[in-house]
Amino acid sequence: MEATAPLRIGVAGIGTVGSALVHLIERHGNDLAVRSGRAITITGVSARDRSKDRGVDLSAMTWFDQATELAADPGNDVFVELIGGADGTAKASVEAAIAAGKHVVTANKALLAAHGNELARQAEAAGVSLNFEAAAAGGIPIIKTLREALAGNTVSRLYGILNGTCNYILTRMEQEGIGFEECLADAQRLGYAEADPSFDVGGQDAAHKLALLTAIAFGTEVDGDSMYVEGISSISPADFEAADELGYRIRLLGVACRTDSGIEQRVHPTMIPKSSAIANVTSVTNAVAVEADSVGELLLCGPGAGGEATASSVISDIADIARGDRVGTFGRPASDLEPYRRAAMRAHEGGYYIRLAVYDRPGAFAAIAGRMAELGISLESIVQRHRAPRAAAPGQLVPVEPAPVILITYDTHEADIRTALDTIKADGHIADAPQMIRIEQLG
Ligand code: NDP
Ligand code: HSE
Repeated sequence: MEATAPLRIGVAGIGTVGSALVHLIERHGNDLAVRSGRAITITGVSARDRSKDRGVDLSAMTWFDQATELAADPGNDVFVELIGGADGTAKASVEAAIAAGKHVVTANKALLAAHGNELARQAEAAGVSLNFEAAAAGGIPIIKTLREALAGNTVSRLYGILNGTCNYILTRMEQEGIGFEECLADAQRLGYAEADPSFDVGGQDAAHKLALLTAIAFGTEVDGDSMYVEGISSISPADFEAADELGYRIRLLGVACRTDSGIEQRVHPTMIPKSSAIANVTSVTNAVAVEADSVGELLLCGPGAGGEATASSVISDIADIARGDRVGTFGRPASDLEPYRRAAMRAHEGGYYIRLAVYDRPGAFAAIAGRMAELGISLESIVQRHRAPRAAAPGQLVPVEPAPVILITYDTHEADIRTALDTIKADGHIADAPQMIRIEQLG
């Protein structure tokens, strides 16, 4: 491949991101050639349905029914995988491209969270790049920032809003009072959600991204399976209302930090103070905060999903390859990544919001507070929000209705909170499963 020859790209997956990529390369082609030092041209494409109108002109490109054949085809120098999925065609085609000596660019966090270590080793052995800027936080250049710009730092914590679909749903539910299902349908229509949206709302997509960021930030092997993951489907209007009154917003957060017992990685709905910068991050916008010794704290915000924003990150990876800029997949040689040592979630320490449906009878509150005290859990507040109606016909017994009670704890251990809630439930004072949302202290 001559230095001045056009860089020839094969793109597998011409959906939301792939079609935006074709469009952006067409729109910015001249400027991109100047910035990269060579023309960038898409020579081959692959998707499932050749007859589908994708809103972009593919007529000058060779069509491949099989992505693996495009990956191995000598007519391209770089293989861009925009199919999705941890295994199947996505994995087979990326491996085929590496085996054929091609550089690879992918937006596929599910693939890298599951097989990133192995693929990084394969790319290294073949002497090719495996770039994935688009795989975490869409249009935000967080991979480049962690991998290159923060090379002179030791990271102590990173946290962020890593899933655009969840942030879109949570903020519309909060601000417009719209139901979960309607918000999710809109996120799908706008091209934000994964092909299987349960990966978004269940927290797994954010977990995949967090695993990639953790590997780069802490120099460990990628481990997408060893973290605590909780999605957003249990969040109700009652939680938004209580959060608002207490001075919080609810966001799905991914957090990774060093602890004495290992690296804590967790994804869950979180109460964050309204005064924090990321509390104001709404809709599909993502935000990633990095706390590091030299630089202090950085916060990067931007669109976390959507075709053009994501394709923008794909193009930045392609431009690096065009210029000949090569960095180890996770910022260092794969053999230098340390094994990931997981800190147990039960050892997590923080504040907790708890919402209980308490049977409104004498002594119930005291018994609940007593169970907390037995485990050394200090309560910052305990509030009965709306007393249950006590309508009863004359001569009949007053019905015992559950009343919503909100508890806020001071910092305590996850293990103790779980034990306390199990005991309170077993005592028979509450009608439904308790709602528990962690509170995060932010800088
Ligand atoms: P889409 O579902 O919109 O597109 C997927 C594309 O892959 C389609 O063109 C589909 O073909 C093609 N495809 C599916 N199976 C095969 C196969 N076996 N062989 C060849 N092509 C195949 O997905 P997105 O564009 O939204 O996402 C692509 C990747 O980017 C995923 O890894 C996703 O996680 C990631 N990503 C997406 C973001 C977003 O905002 N959408 C943001 C960041 C990352 P056909 O069209 O014919 O059905
Ligand atoms: N489904 C993902 C999201 C796409 O909503 O964040 C971007 O990775």
